[in-house]
Amino acid sequence: MDLSDFRENYTKGGLKREALKDNPVQQFELWFKQAIESAIPEPNAFSLATVDAFGQPSIRTVLLKLFDENGFVFFTNYESKKAQDIEANEKVSMLFPWVAIERQVKINGRAEKISTAESLKYFLSRPRGSQLGAWVSQQSHVISSRGVLEMKLQEMKRKFLNRAVPIPDHWGGYRIIPETIEFWQGGENRLHDRFEYEKVAGEWLVRRLAP
Ligand SMILES: Cc1cc2nc3c(=O)[nH]c(=O)nc-3n(C[C@H](O)[C@H](O)[C@H](O)COP(=O)(O)O)c2cc1C
Repeated sequence: MDLSDFRENYTKGGLKREALKDNPVQQFELWFKQAIESAIPEPNAFSLATVDAFGQPSIRTVLLKLFDENGFVFFTNYESKKAQDIEANEKVSMLFPWVAIERQVKINGRAEKISTAESLKYFLSRPRGSQLGAWVSQQSHVISSRGVLEMKLQEMKRKFLNRAVPIPDHWGGYRIIPETIEFWQGGENRLHDRFEYEKVAGEWLVRRLAP
């Protein structure tokens, strides 16, 4: 299939240095609110790239559940492929592909596990079905059929009948502590605007990158 005619011109407007906030987390918050307002589906979904001990990258979608000055938090299974990768190499890359509004945000940094107390706080806010799901799925492991999952779900329903579902040891959050954050805004004639913040000696520096 030849896709050479698939071509969009980006016309939603440029990004100016003067308009950028000094702090990239505040800039991210502004863009995130605008992504919500634009009604793009699941604006908190991002691509998370990890690299394993052999240098092989892997990428998958996860959901951002919290962000602030300390970093960007998502939740997952601590025995999953991504968790094994992070165990071997804490360096990760995140990408918010907000293509519908001609933007993307790329964040590089390192991932670390959050405290059990923090994970528990979020776990308790999840619907019971999701809480049970965390017990059921040995994420990233090979299974013989869907039936295995259904059976395990019934088993867990019986096990935790009439009581709160506890948080599994193998489930929790990671916080990605940003080292660079890049804001990309599509421009006409492929002359896009890119600004990259980098944390140097505790201060955020900003520079413009060629598109
Ligand atoms: C929209 C969307 C949101 C997802 N959110 C999460 C999430 O927050 N946490 C998670 O562990 N997996 C999430 N997944 C599933 C992951 O993409 C992935 O399949 C899973 O985490 C296993 O990845 P791994 O084998 O590389 O560890 C999501 C998938 C999609 C498409």
